[in-house]
Formats: sequence, structure tokens, C-alpha cells
Amino acid sequence: MSHKAVLLQEAIDALNLFTGAIFLDATVGSGGHASEVCNRFRGVVRVIGLDADPERIEHAKKVLLEKECPAELVNENFRNLDQVLKRLGVEKVNAILFDLGLNSEQLEQSGRGFSFQHDEPLYMTFAAPEVGKLTAQEIVNHYDEDEIADTIYELGEEKYSRRIAAAIVEVRKKNPIQTTFQLVEILKGALPKNYERGRLHVATRTFQALRLAVNDELGALQEGLAKGFGALAPKGRMAVISFHSLEDRIVKVFFREKAHTDEAVLITKKPLYPTEDETRENPRARSAKLRIIEKI
Ligand SMILES: C[S@@+](CC[C@H](N)C(=O)[O-])C[C@H]1O[C@@H](n2cnc3c(N)ncnc32)[C@H](O)[C@@H]1O
Repeated sequence: MSHKAVLLQEAIDALNLFTGAIFLDATVGSGGHASEVCNRFRGVVRVIGLDADPERIEHAKKVLLEKECPAELVNENFRNLDQVLKRLGVEKVNAILFDLGLNSEQLEQSGRGFSFQHDEPLYMTFAAPEVGKLTAQEIVNHYDEDEIADTIYELGEEKYSRRIAAAIVEVRKKNPIQTTFQLVEILKGALPKNYERGRLHVATRTFQALRLAVNDELGALQEGLAKGFGALAPKGRMAVISFHSLEDRIVKVFFREKAHTDEAVLITKKPLYPTEDETRENPRARSAKLRIIEKI
């Protein structure tokens, strides 16, 4: 399944781009938002795109090349966006977009265990796993029971986290847990039959928690927002699309603080949501929220 950019028109409208502007797409993914900027401002807006996943960068390069969209694409975590801008000799940008989380192609094709619907090694890393770097296998096989429970509770908001951690520890005594399907089986065994009244897959919260932990996604978001705001020119806009409450809370608090200290104005007091048409066509958009601020 190819990735459909979420809140595409709304996000690009919100950025208030203009001829001569510099746009930083902090999560270029499959280049959906970047292509839209190019469609509207081909050659007159400088586009810089980052992604922590090298495969996404290669893919975005092809997509943007095919569409004849000039863009500077860099495989880097947005928590290091200041270093990238420095390397490119850019002092300030006029607009920044963060479209958080995962891309559909990462879920479907990365082979790194993001989806509980594919039997894959349980890595959940944005890039290929490297010796010495954290993976989901490391968490489930080597963290102690309390640490696993706390991770699943805090980052997955899973009320059965203690049960799940106990089941994981029991299973790993016999065999290491190496694949997504092994973990799904453990979750099915540990959770009640009518889990969340059937509205949520048993693995949704636990998989979210592991992914956030492996990539320190909330830490990266906090750092990325602060550095992104620092890099914005006066009147520059920052738009963030988030997909779950933990991310949205961080964005909301960060934006409110900037408004309180008179460093920015909130363009959205309440978040913008996708239209019904969009969620019908793209169920992934269901949980999306868009928040926007403008630097003073
Ligand atoms: C929802 S997708 C973005 C889709 C993109 N806007 C499009 O239209 O194709 C999110 C992307 O952000 C990347 N990502 C997530 N956290 C990141 C981080 N801390 N730094 C850089 N990229 C990150 C993921 O690898 C993924 O490709």
C-alpha cells in the first residue's frame, strides 16, 4: 500500500509559503507533503527534507525526481535538524512541518517488525538494526519485568502492562522472543478475550510502546520542536500532525508555552482534524490532529 499524505492541503495551506521561502519537511517520508509544496511553488521555495529512515530518503528522492521537484534530502533524525541546517549553510527557515509516526510503507514493507500483521524480526528501528543500538528484541528479552511493564504502561497507555510483562518474562525463560508473531501470541494469551471490546487489536498499544521506546520518539519530538522553533524566522510557521495522545500532548504543551511567553501565536487554538471524506478514503488519517503556530 503506498502512503497517502494526511491533511495534505490543510498542512501546506497552514505553512503560509511564499516565493523565496525555505521549507523544512522534518519527516519527508514518501515525499507526499514535499510534492505538494513543489506542485504549488516549484522552483521558488527551497525544500529541505529529513527522515530518520534511509529507505524513506531513497524513496522520496525517486518520487521527487520523477515529479521534477528539486529538494535537498538528508537521512537524519529531526532531533539533529540544527546540525543539518548548519551543514547546508541555512540560518533560518520560514516553515517547518512535522508529520509524525510511521509511513504506510514502513509498516507494510520495512521487514523490521512495526506491524503486528506481518511476521518479521522484532526490531522496530527506523534504520537497519546496528550492534549496540536498542531494538524491541532487546527490550522484551533483556529488560527486567518492571521496566517492560513501565514502558508498556507509559508509552502504550496499556492498563494490562503488568500482565503482559509477566507473560513476556515467562515465555523468554524458555525461548528468546524474536518475531512479531511470537509477541502477538504472548499478548493473545495474556489479555482478556473481549480486550477493549474488540475495538483495538491486542497488540496495538504494546507495539506502539515498544516502537516509541526503541526510537525515543517522544524525546526526539521534544528536541525537534525546540530546535525547529529556534530555526524559524520571525513570522515563520510550524505545523505538526500527530497520531496519538502522547505526541499531541507534547505538541500542545510546547505551543502553549511559546504563546504564553509571547514568542508565538497559536494559529489553531483547537487542533484541525481530517474531514470525513479523508478518513473514509484513508483510515490511517482517523487519529490525525494538526496544530500550527507562528513565531512572532
Ligand atoms: C507519517 S510519515 C511522513 C509522511 C510524509 N509527510 C509524506 O507525505 O509522505 C512519518 C515519517 O517520519 C519519519 N520519522 C519519524 N520520526 C522521525 C524523527 N525523529 N526524525 C526524522 N524522521 C522521523 C518516519 O521514518 C516516517 O518516514
